[in-house]
Amino acid sequence: MENTITVYVTDLNGVEHEVMAPTDMNLSLMEAIRLNELQIKATCGGMAMCATCNVIVNSDHQLPEMKEAEEDMLDEAFVLDVEGSRLSCQIPITPELEGLKVSLGALTGE
Ligand code: FES
Repeated sequence: MENTITVYVTDLNGVEHEVMAPTDMNLSLMEAIRLNELQIKATCGGMAMCATCNVIVNSDHQLPEMKEAEEDMLDEAFVLDVEGSRLSCQIPITPELEGLKVSLGALTGE
């Protein structure tokens, strides 16, 4: 489909899901995951204030730099301090993310 990318999301049970994400709707990765009906808590609704949308990036994609709010939130919880750890609500869906692979972080299902 034009203007749609596929992202691969591994859930907390280790099952990989294909997530279809439109690139022309100004969505975040968190919102795309929700639209595909995968479990992701995302308590604050995308404000970089809860970390329950945490994902671990498993592919070599070039993601946008973290803004201060995202860095601060990831610094606060040691469980999130692993390589590739990001807040999915702070990652905009763009064509460059085609084929991105992420795993849901432990906090997404609490
Ligand atoms: S949804 Fe709360 S930090 Fe992303």
